[in-house]
Amino acid sequence: MKRAALTNIFLGIMAMFMTLAIFRSATSSGKDLLEMNTREDSLIIARELSRFEGLINRSMEDVKIMMSDMPAPRSTRETIPTVYVITPTYKRYEQIPELTRLGQTLLNVPKLHWIVADDAKDNNLEVISLLKTLGMPYTYLLTPMPEKFHEPKYKVKPKGVANRNGAINWIRLHATEGVFYFADDDNTYDIRLFEEIRYTKKVSMLPVGLLTHYGLSTPVVKNGKFFGWYDGWIANRHYPIDMASFAVSVPFFLTRPKAKMPYSPGYEETGFLDSLNITMNDVEFVADNCTKIYVWHTKTVKNYASSRDILQAKWNDTNLRDLQKVMMIKRKE
Ligand code: UGA
Ligand code: MN
Repeated sequence: MKRAALTNIFLGIMAMFMTLAIFRSATSSGKDLLEMNTREDSLIIARELSRFEGLINRSMEDVKIMMSDMPAPRSTRETIPTVYVITPTYKRYEQIPELTRLGQTLLNVPKLHWIVADDAKDNNLEVISLLKTLGMPYTYLLTPMPEKFHEPKYKVKPKGVANRNGAINWIRLHATEGVFYFADDDNTYDIRLFEEIRYTKKVSMLPVGLLTHYGLSTPVVKNGKFFGWYDGWIANRHYPIDMASFAVSVPFFLTRPKAKMPYSPGYEETGFLDSLNITMNDVEFVADNCTKIYVWHTKTVKNYASSRDILQAKWNDTNLRDLQKVMMIKRKE
């Protein structure tokens, strides 16, 4: 009897020790996890924390990590270089949705000036109204494609060229510092891209996702040095990269008074970079030596014009009359 009781006590003490040991290892692995937090993880924590502030009790150490990921205070922000984002656009059913999405992405970027260059002859009031609503610094330009490219013999059109040349001319006249970047209205941008390019000295380059059957277009970097190009369509292009792959410093651009984009479909990027008269030694490989994708060459499916049903008299004095103003309606056959 006595022996059995002693064994029970012994077993009980053992069980207590084991529980304690398991508990210790659980808490220490929890700590390891915290210490292993990457910058991305701490950003998530920071976001979570701001949501549940006061509910989560974390150590000061974590708070330090989080503070470093917070946006800089306004006074510091104002001294950072401006990012001029140049967006060619043109009227179509998807234009306002695309510009809404892009504009709201850009709203998250400090010290940004959006140059929206419209392939149009007259002001597009919808676009201007959107720009006003967004409330960021912007410039709206009318930069129509030259008439001759609308002739049928030009089957492949130089899309966005008049727009981009108009915008860089504006930069020549109005900008003195910062960097510019060509951001088509239909691509998808991670806002980290803008911090990568902000301090560009001459030209910076970075990978673009979802391009051709290669799924990617990027300069190839080996041991931190330029090695070649990875792009599904090298052709005879000197710089076989996409429009979204590079950014140019404004002060550097101002030393190249002849730089402009050629009206040659498919060769706009390489032609423009050639006109900057650079060598690969002038190029910085950003996005962690081109190991990160911060922009994707997404495409939007083509949509249809609204049918003329909306014009029927039975809809008079309803909300449809308001909605109709912002819609593109099928023409009478
Ligand atoms: C690809 C490249 O990513 C473009 O930068 C390049 O201009 C184009 O090919 C080309 O070489 O022609 P892709 O997706 O095929 O782009 O072209 P879109 O997205 O249809 O057009 C590029 C930009 O030009 C867009 O921002 C678009 O809004 C604008 N665009 C397009 C015009 O301003 N006018 C047009 O008639 C068509
Ligand atoms: Mn596109």
